[in-house]
Amino acid sequence: MRNVLFMLVAITGSVLFSSCDAGNEGAGTSPAANEVSEAKIDSLIALMTLEEKIGMLHASSSFTSGGVPRLNIPELVFSDGPHGVRHEHGRGWHALEGYDDRSTYLPVGISLASTWNQDFGYRYGEVLGNEAKERGKNVLLGPGINILRSPLNGRNFEYMGEDPFLAGAMAVGYVRGLQAQGVAANAKHYAANNQETDRHNIDVQISKRALHEIYFPAFRAVVKDGDIWSIMGAYNKINGQYTTHHEYLNNVVLKGEWGFDGVVISDWASVKDTREALLFGTDIEMGTELLRDFDNPVYEEFYMARPALEMIESGEIDESYVDDKVRRILRLMYRTTALTDHGPGQRNVEEHQQVALEVAREGIVLLKNDGLLPLEKNEIRTLAVIGHNATRLFAERGGSSQVPALYEITPLEGIMNLVGDDVEVVYAEGYEPYYDESLFSDIRGDAASQSRENLRDVELARSANEGLMQEAIELAERADAVIFVGGWIHGHEGMPWGEGTYDAEARDKLNLKLIFGQEELIQRINAANENTAVVLMGGSNVEMENWLPDTRAYVHAWYPGMEGGRALAEILFGEVNPSGKLPMTFANSHEDYPSHSIGEFPGEGTVDYAEGIYVGYRYFDTYERDVFFPFGFGLSYTSFEFSDLNLSVDGSKVRVRATVTNTGDREGAEVAQVYVHAPDASVDRPIRELKGFQKVHLEAGESKTIEVELDESSFSYYHPEELRWVMESGTYQIQVGNSSRDIFLTENVDL
Ligand code: GLC
Repeated sequence: MRNVLFMLVAITGSVLFSSCDAGNEGAGTSPAANEVSEAKIDSLIALMTLEEKIGMLHASSSFTSGGVPRLNIPELVFSDGPHGVRHEHGRGWHALEGYDDRSTYLPVGISLASTWNQDFGYRYGEVLGNEAKERGKNVLLGPGINILRSPLNGRNFEYMGEDPFLAGAMAVGYVRGLQAQGVAANAKHYAANNQETDRHNIDVQISKRALHEIYFPAFRAVVKDGDIWSIMGAYNKINGQYTTHHEYLNNVVLKGEWGFDGVVISDWASVKDTREALLFGTDIEMGTELLRDFDNPVYEEFYMARPALEMIESGEIDESYVDDKVRRILRLMYRTTALTDHGPGQRNVEEHQQVALEVAREGIVLLKNDGLLPLEKNEIRTLAVIGHNATRLFAERGGSSQVPALYEITPLEGIMNLVGDDVEVVYAEGYEPYYDESLFSDIRGDAASQSRENLRDVELARSANEGLMQEAIELAERADAVIFVGGWIHGHEGMPWGEGTYDAEARDKLNLKLIFGQEELIQRINAANENTAVVLMGGSNVEMENWLPDTRAYVHAWYPGMEGGRALAEILFGEVNPSGKLPMTFANSHEDYPSHSIGEFPGEGTVDYAEGIYVGYRYFDTYERDVFFPFGFGLSYTSFEFSDLNLSVDGSKVRVRATVTNTGDREGAEVAQVYVHAPDASVDRPIRELKGFQKVHLEAGESKTIEVELDESSFSYYHPEELRWVMESGTYQIQVGNSSRDIFLTENVDL
């Protein structure tokens, strides 16, 4: 029978996938298209040999997985990364030389989260999907949504902060915008990949309550609310099993409780066992690193290649497991540009750059300002811009999230473009990065020896920086105002990819101390010129106690993308009113964070998440710990007032309304944050939890009513013993404010 079908398809194979056929499904994922695909999928699988099915379950090159040429089933094409389409690698593991892959470099994930603007999530994803489509990709490997458990994680810049509700809300928009273009989103890394140290082997010891209340919700949101088409497993283990083929994570929760019907792809080389991968939910194994020789790959060696074939042929594992994986892969292909025409994409168009600019404008956070900002350019004759980060380019660093940006406006360029000839701008680097091994988490293997080759003599570098500092101070002394631009950086020039680094993949920081002598430099600049504003870039905070008290204005800019320098200048000179809010708590030292003071970080072999659900403000607020700037905090050049809290209860639904008024003399935007406090709970719960927010843009004097819907999930907790979600009846307090510690309106409801 099968042979007859073979003949039939061999003759009419193209019919199944003729362009008209793929085309007439039209763009997008209308239910009709999906139903049609399901029927076709089953008929296709019936035609495939076991070898052909297995060929679809693993990589066929660095960023493709296998197709079935005989049946016109194409390879699936993947590309990084979360904030821009990565360099073209072709089928190898190195960026192709001379290839036109320049793309839009958006502000990084934590910048997007700092906007608290859900419309931006969609528009950001839309740009990524449109450019990925233009570059011929079917799956874009983002968003990164791992929770910020410690400020030392080298990849915090790629993710969306410490709160699962905010991360989920921003990621859902991102996923919808991206997939509307016909490119699959790929939320990563599922789950509890919250450090880079020993990431391939570390075994996370964690409670189910912490998983369900902190580390799962953003993934649950993109599945249940974002209809995401693919998920990426993580490298680490959870409670003894590798996450990429974790029975509880994949079969019980993701594909069981949440009903995920898409594809689980591994992280690159995160599959470690054939039997587990087949049984516990891995659908595609990626990972060029597995190969002996990157440039002469033999993909048959993969766990889900020949070894899997043999396991099925021997009858040890039923072929139905393979069929389910192929079904999911074909379903994704039908949903995406792989098998459905979604129209042409575009790249590097003005609309995309406009999104980069607007996200940068709303993602930059004004944390301190005694009135020095905004600067008045007609009151400044000479402006000193000091700091290595004022001229450093960031797009192509940081690891797999690197982007070949079409351009990148640096802070110095942005400032010079804005002030024009009216102001004399003078620049001094102030400090130069150097590679001080003692500042990095343990570096192992040949990468370490390579990076040691590049090791500049630290003493030589430090004395060179003495000279640079002196030069900067002299400039500061004779200027009318100073803008210092410093903070963290990604990996260094000359360092191997991802090595010798701070904010980048494969490394964690050892502490939050300002690097390269910047602390002394800031102190001396403040002493030299009272009109000094400090701007820091980076994926998290730095220690502040020694310089912040004497600093009049402090702006945190994260890594604001290709238009970041322009957005920063517009904020510093008041053309744009800052509206960013912290998606993480800024405490002073990493030791203040619960992952260090209660739990372990980064652990050794195993890492104990002993802090459980008390992550970020859930810890700092509940335990009343001092912080410099709380979660959700951010200043404006105008002022706002909250009033008229109104709750209407319908069963376990509570509609929250409040009025926000711009009481200042210029337009601005405010984020109304809604927290829930459960004083009657029968189990310990955080003092408050973010369960809704809304950003409003207001003209001077204008008022608007915000509205947030709370439902059962807003009041529930995951029962530590019964292992299920529970909503207890009792009194709950609804809190509305503009940070986790600035609560202006409260009212109790009995549910
Ligand atoms: C890397 C990263 C992952 C990335 C993948 C492909 O190891 O962990 O985020 O998408 O490999 O580059």
